[in-house]
Amino acid sequence: MPLPKSAYLSEVWKDGIFDNKVVFCTGGAGTICSAQVRAMVHLGANAYILGRNVEKTEKMAKDIATARPGAKVIGAGNVDVRKFDSLKNEAERCVRELGSIDFVIAGAAGNFLASIDQLSVNAFKSVMDIDVLGSYNTLKATLPYLAESATKHKSDGLTPCPTGTGGRIIFVSATIHYSGLPLQTHVSVAKAGVDSLSNNVAIEYGPRGVNSNIIAPGPIGETEGMERLARMEDSQSYASTIPSGRMGRVKEIADATIYLFSDSGNYVNGTTIVVDGGAWRMHSANPGSGFKYPDFLLSGEEVTGVAGLKKSKSKI
Ligand code: COA
Repeated sequence: MPLPKSAYLSEVWKDGIFDNKVVFCTGGAGTICSAQVRAMVHLGANAYILGRNVEKTEKMAKDIATARPGAKVIGAGNVDVRKFDSLKNEAERCVRELGSIDFVIAGAAGNFLASIDQLSVNAFKSVMDIDVLGSYNTLKATLPYLAESATKHKSDGLTPCPTGTGGRIIFVSATIHYSGLPLQTHVSVAKAGVDSLSNNVAIEYGPRGVNSNIIAPGPIGETEGMERLARMEDSQSYASTIPSGRMGRVKEIADATIYLFSDSGNYVNGTTIVVDGGAWRMHSANPGSGFKYPDFLLSGEEVTGVAGLKKSKSKI
């Protein structure tokens, strides 16, 4: 569904800043990543989004293309970030069809609520594989193109490069591993790995002009993530525990993306932008609410009332 600009982008950015640029995004059909890509497309970029579900990914690509007349947005379905060869082929196809990869958003992630008691070894591995290995695969498949783009689009910080910016990657992470969170051991460990990965990319590829940063969204309303992680009937009382007094909007993640990828982010490298209304500083303001601590853990009950429940009984 075509969205009004106000749903995914603030008024502060200039149209055309990403003209002739290409953004490559894993998990691009998801609620947060699609807003990030839509904002880039609105401001001039073409895009290549990847996901596991063919229909959902292709449909989202068409939808994002409505953000700007003439935009080219390709949706590549049936791509699992756990498979490097598949990602490498997609990166090659992106460059063949759209001309380059100037920006990457590593957004594909796996998530569900489960206590350690309910988390099988394979369940833990699945999330590690999607988040950590998948982010590494995305990086490896796109780095040669990012480095090439960085070489073409250098800035000394005073004079903007006439051809704009390029050679930047954002890893979409989280804040839950800053303090720890029950029912989220698998994701906490995985996101800590993703953060380390980004930081090291900045160190090793900074000298080649590549900027690598993390966006750590907090509780963002109307997203698949929130549906998976919180019982919606508790959302009102949950929001009141967030310092900014409400859940975030996907637009607020998109704005952070534009900040990092545009001329405003030239000297921002190897860091994390937390966009969470201050939520992580409050222990109580975290997804997973609705499961009273520690009573829920001690009860041995299974997680219910959220999206993304286990399909069948696992052999833990
Ligand atoms: N609670 C506990 N274990 C769960 C679970 C849940 N809610 N959902 C899946 N698992 C377990 C499975 O039982 C299986 O373990 P087992 O072999 O010991 O039984 C393991 O996780 C893998 O599940 P499977 O469905 O085969 O893996 P998958 O690769 O198809 O799916 C997931 C990966 C599990 C991460 C799934 O949640 C997913 O596809 N997520 C993508 C979307 C998403 O999470 N987006 C997050 C936005 S924040």
